[in-house]
Parts: sequence; structure tokens; C-alpha cells
Amino acid sequence: MPHTIAVLRGSPRSGSLTEKLATAIALSAGDRLAFRDVPIHHLPLYNPDLEKDAVHPQWDAFRAAVKECDGLLFVTPEWNRSVPGGLKNAIDVGSRPYGEGVFQKKPAAVVTQSTGGTGGFGGNHHLRQSLVHLDAHVLGQPEMYVGNLSADKFGEDGRISDKGLAKLVDGFVDAFVEWVGVIHQGRKALAP
Ligand code: FNR
Repeated sequence: MPHTIAVLRGSPRSGSLTEKLATAIALSAGDRLAFRDVPIHHLPLYNPDLEKDAVHPQWDAFRAAVKECDGLLFVTPEWNRSVPGGLKNAIDVGSRPYGEGVFQKKPAAVVTQSTGGTGGFGGNHHLRQSLVHLDAHVLGQPEMYVGNLSADKFGEDGRISDKGLAKLVDGFVDAFVEWVGVIHQGRKALAP
């Protein structure tokens, strides 16, 4: 059975480049990983007050969906040199209650994209900063800043048709598949 990967997409836009890129990544991985989209844009804004008496049902379902996966893939545009607020909110929701965060110890990778040349570098590193704090095991290399992205770089089959980008994505996917395996094998080896 392949490891399951929760995919958190930062763009709320229908038909977004983020969605296309996440689909192309899953196609590149084939049956080596099982990707599961975990929706985030319906989540109410995190507020600790709402956890005082009962667990908020939408937060609860989101946390459970992430928790049952073996790894994390974040694919997102950069908004104002950071991540879109909806994605930051999902991270805040998943990080609480204190000590029960759902991201910790999971292998993770961050992919940012932009129609501009910088490929979401700023957003990528803001996201990495949060994930390191939350004790996710974030893949170091290759860094994935996909710049100058456009819809015509994807074929009708959902795969990337642009040769240079396809090579970049395939290399990233190979590294991520290996990373997920390494983290889980290491955990097994250390288990009492
Ligand atoms: C953007 N965009 C953007 N691009 C970038 O390179 N750096 C940035 O800081 C921003 N900031 C920003 C803020 C807001 C509010 C919006 C709506 C957009 C552009 C955007 O990230 C880019 O076009 C993405 O490729 C869009 O991705 P999706 O929504 O198609 O996945």
C-alpha cells in the first residue's frame, strides 16, 4: 500500500494553476503515493474561544483528515509575499489544541508557484517557517519555486507538457517519494 499524502492547496480559485500543478504532481507520482485533497477554504477562522465548550465540527473533520494521512504536500500561490490567508488559517486550525497538532512528525513538502518570475519564494519560506515550528519533517531539496507558470504548460491529460517544468516536477516527486519512505522507515526502525 502506498503512503497517503494530504494535499493542502492554497488557492481558493476554481481552475487554479495550483490545482493543475497539484494534479500534475500526483500524475507524476503514479502509484508510488496516494494523494488525497483535503479542502481548507470552508474552515471558519481559527479562534481559541470556539474550542472552549466543544470541538468545532469543521475543524474536527479537517484535523481528522490530515491526521490519518502519512504525509503532507502543500501547493500554493504566493499572496503578498506570503501564503494566502486561507492556508495560514488551516495551519493554525491543524496546530491546535496545543500539543495535539496534526502536522507533527509527518514528512512534508512545499511547492509554490507564480505567474511571476520569483515562483513564490517568499510564500514558500513563510510556510516552511510554520511547518518547522510545528515539527513537520519538511523536504529540503529540491526547493520548488515554480515561476512563470501558465495554463498552457499543462496538457489535456493533466500532465505537464512543458519539458523543462516536467523534468523539474519529476525530480521533485522522486525526492519526495524517497523522503516519505525514509521518514517512515526511520520511525519503524526506532519503534520499541
Ligand atoms: C497575488 N499574486 C502574487 N504573485 C507573486 O508572485 N507574488 C505575490 O506576492 C503575489 N501576491 C498576490 C496577492 C493576491 C491577493 C493575489 C490574488 C495574487 C499572483 C498569484 O500568486 C499568481 O497569479 C498565481 O499564479 C495564482 O495562482 P492560482 O490562484 O491560479 O493557483
